[in-house]
Amino acid sequence: MTIHVKSESATPANDWDRRGLPAWTYHSQALLDLELDRILLRHWQIVGHVNDVPKPGDYISFDLGPERAFVLRQQDGSLRAFHNLCRHRGSRIVTKESGHCKNALVCPFHGWVYNFDGTLRGAARPDSFADLDKHKFGLKPVELEIWMGFIFIRFKPGSQASVAETLAPYAAEMGSHLPETMVPTGKIWNGEIPVNWKSVRDVDNEGYHVAMAHPALQDLYGYTYRDTVYGPRLRVSKGTYKEGAGRMWSVRNYVKASTPHPALPEERRKLWAYYGIFPNAVFITTPETVQFYQELPIDVGRSIIRGMIYRYPEESRQQKLARYLSYRIDRATYEEDTQLAIWSNESMKSSAFDSFHLSDHERFLRAHHDDLRRLLPIMRLDEPPPAERMADVNAALQAEED
Ligand code: FES
Ligand SMILES: [Fe+2]
Repeated sequence: MTIHVKSESATPANDWDRRGLPAWTYHSQALLDLELDRILLRHWQIVGHVNDVPKPGDYISFDLGPERAFVLRQQDGSLRAFHNLCRHRGSRIVTKESGHCKNALVCPFHGWVYNFDGTLRGAARPDSFADLDKHKFGLKPVELEIWMGFIFIRFKPGSQASVAETLAPYAAEMGSHLPETMVPTGKIWNGEIPVNWKSVRDVDNEGYHVAMAHPALQDLYGYTYRDTVYGPRLRVSKGTYKEGAGRMWSVRNYVKASTPHPALPEERRKLWAYYGIFPNAVFITTPETVQFYQELPIDVGRSIIRGMIYRYPEESRQQKLARYLSYRIDRATYEEDTQLAIWSNESMKSSAFDSFHLSDHERFLRAHHDDLRRLLPIMRLDEPPPAERMADVNAALQAEED
């Protein structure tokens, strides 16, 4: 369930800074506000897959920091994204994580009605609004892009290119799994984890812990584990299982049951691959599935982890069994990582915590932190500035660098 990456360079070296981000960056509300505004809301976020919303009127909602959105299947089959915010007094328009609307969107507060394309059909008791110009009160659109069947949205414009351009180095490998044809194995899941969002990725971004912390993954492919840089902020980790692998029940039976899709090229027929999506998500491919998951901050010390596994529409019993067993392996890994992320995150508040001291096998973790620091140079400081000066000090540091 997680991205596990070894060192960016195979060559051990002592000429790099083995510290990670300073501890204060994991419990500063003022910094989280900046992270949201400058990083998370300006990067493409995965909402789900086109087959999560197959019929006109189907929707998925997506919250991030102060922003709320939903993606709605239109009558003509296209998809649109809107801020989930009524233009009357700001109520949510759709209220569930996913669902279906018939014919129109009706605000649950006072009953304003919107068309699927976001235009205002009418206010409740329109006589009480003198000269209401309906054209000025449509739902506000949110940028949307579909890549390989996955729906991405972006709340704020940023320097990031389109999803297709950003993830182009992944396209051939991801595309060989035919992800656009896949269907969800259930409803998009989510769970709360009591850590800062960065702690989730810190655990994900290195493979140094796999041998110790993840017996099932180690059993499956630990000895073949490799990592590769595909481009700026594009880091991929891969492991290939061998026939006969599996001291553990779930691994042994997964290897026996695994039935790759006939279209998969030879080199991917036993491969589990993890494609990092900066700053907070990952795609995982296995011979039977493609999945995504992401971490989204709720507040400085709590995050949502959210994701879904997708399968081929026609699935044999054998593939279904393999998928079930891979889920068991993933689930165990997820629980192990959750505990590790909690312990690591807690330590950031302890007087005994100095800093990370990273192994050569944790170079990807450091590289991820460097990417964050390039966007928010304030994270280079060992001590935080006063909260009210956070944005100004960051701007001054940014100006020095430009
Ligand atoms: S807030 Fe939507 S109708 Fe009043
Ligand atoms: Fe892990």
